[in-house]
Amino acid sequence: MAPYPEDLERWRRAAEISSRARDYGLRLTVPGARRRDVADAVEAFIRDQGAAPAFPVNLSRNDEAAHFTPSRDDDAEFVDGDVVKVDVGAHLDGAIADTADTVEVGGTHRYENLVRAAREGLAAGIAAVRPGARVDELSRAIAAAIRSRGLKPIENLTGHSIERYLLHAGKAIPNVPDHSDASLVEGEIIAIEPFATNGAGRIRNGPFGNIARFRGDPGRADPALSALFGRFRTLPFAMRWAATPEEEAALRRARRTLQTYPVFVEEGGGWVAQAEHTILVGPDRAEVLTAPVPV
Ligand code: CO
Repeated sequence: MAPYPEDLERWRRAAEISSRARDYGLRLTVPGARRRDVADAVEAFIRDQGAAPAFPVNLSRNDEAAHFTPSRDDDAEFVDGDVVKVDVGAHLDGAIADTADTVEVGGTHRYENLVRAAREGLAAGIAAVRPGARVDELSRAIAAAIRSRGLKPIENLTGHSIERYLLHAGKAIPNVPDHSDASLVEGEIIAIEPFATNGAGRIRNGPFGNIARFRGDPGRADPALSALFGRFRTLPFAMRWAATPEEEAALRRARRTLQTYPVFVEEGGGWVAQAEHTILVGPDRAEVLTAPVPV
C-alpha cells in the first residue's frame, strides 16, 4: 500500500522552507562572501521559518562534491570561478527535505556545461518517476543526460529515500545504472541528486568536513553531550553548532563514538556540479516538493 506520510502537509512545508533556503544560499554565494557567514545565514533563515536544519548547510567547492561545511574559525571567502554546491535541508518534527544546486561564483561562465549537466540529469531522473518505475530506469536517464554533455556522472554517490528523521532511508537512487531491482512506490519521498564531473566520475574520502552524527543515545553520563543529543538526535550536525565551550569539549571527548563525515573529493581532481530535489512519488508522476518558490 501507498506509504504516503500521514503529515504530508508538514513535509510540503519543510520542502518549501528548504527551497527558499537553497535559493537564498545561492544568492549569498558571491565573490568575497565568507563561506562561514553564508552557512550561518542560511541556517538562521531555516530556523527563522520555524524549521531546523536537517543537516549543516554544505558549501562544497570545485573538486569537493559534498559534505563540507565551514568550521567556526573558517575565514575563507568565495572567489570568482568557484563552483559551489549549496546543499540544504530543513525538517519539521522529522519531516525532512533535501535540495541542492550549483552556482559558479561571480558568473564567470566557465562551467556552465557542468552545471547544466547536473540540472539536466536531475530533470531526466524526475521525468522517469512514476509508481512502479524501476530505479534503474531513473539511473539510466540521469547518466544519459549527463553523458550527452560529454561529462561523467559520479557513480559512487546516490540519491536516497527519506523517512521521518532518516535522511538516508533504505532505498538508493544511483546516478548510473547498477542493476538495482528496486522500484518506486506511490507515496514515498525520495531525493534525486545527480553529480556531474569532468574528472574520473568517482569520489574518494577526503579530510573531515566538520560534520558529525550521533549513532545513538549517548545516555545521561555527560550532561553537555545529552543536551546535544536532545537537539540533534541522530541527524547530522556541524561541529560549529556547539553552543557553549562545555558542549564543544563534550564533542571533542565523544569524537570517537560519533559518526564523522569526510569531504567527498573527486578522485581525478575533476570539478563537480550537483542538482537535487526532494520529490513525492505521486499517482502518475513526480511532484517536486522543493521546486523554486516565486519571490
Ligand atoms: Co540528499
